[in-house]
Amino acid sequence: MTVCRDCCCGNALKHPSLDHDAQLERLGAALAPDHRVRRSQCLDVCAEANVMVVHPTPTARRQGATPVWFGLVLSPAIEQDLIAWVRAGGPGTADIPPMLDLSVIPAPGRS
Ligand code: FES
Repeated sequence: MTVCRDCCCGNALKHPSLDHDAQLERLGAALAPDHRVRRSQCLDVCAEANVMVVHPTPTARRQGATPVWFGLVLSPAIEQDLIAWVRAGGPGTADIPPMLDLSVIPAPGRS
């Protein structure tokens, strides 16, 4: 999983009610050791901060699965749904739960 942390995502001035460092730590702890959580610089969809991208497993990618982008990941409920979906296999393996599907955003450059 890629977690954007740059000018807007992770910015306490933009989303003061969220402890961004704690969110990143929770994701890393919940998904280790089977999944990596890495920080990225701006992913160019700042209006959707906090942005996260879930990548398919290598097997799922070979079968055509693509990364799924999520925006406005600002609540513990969305965080928990994301964690559960990644643990279930993520893109190309597990269906996205309906509530989590509401947080899917188009990847930049795609409509
Ligand atoms: S800082 Fe995350 S999309 Fe720009």
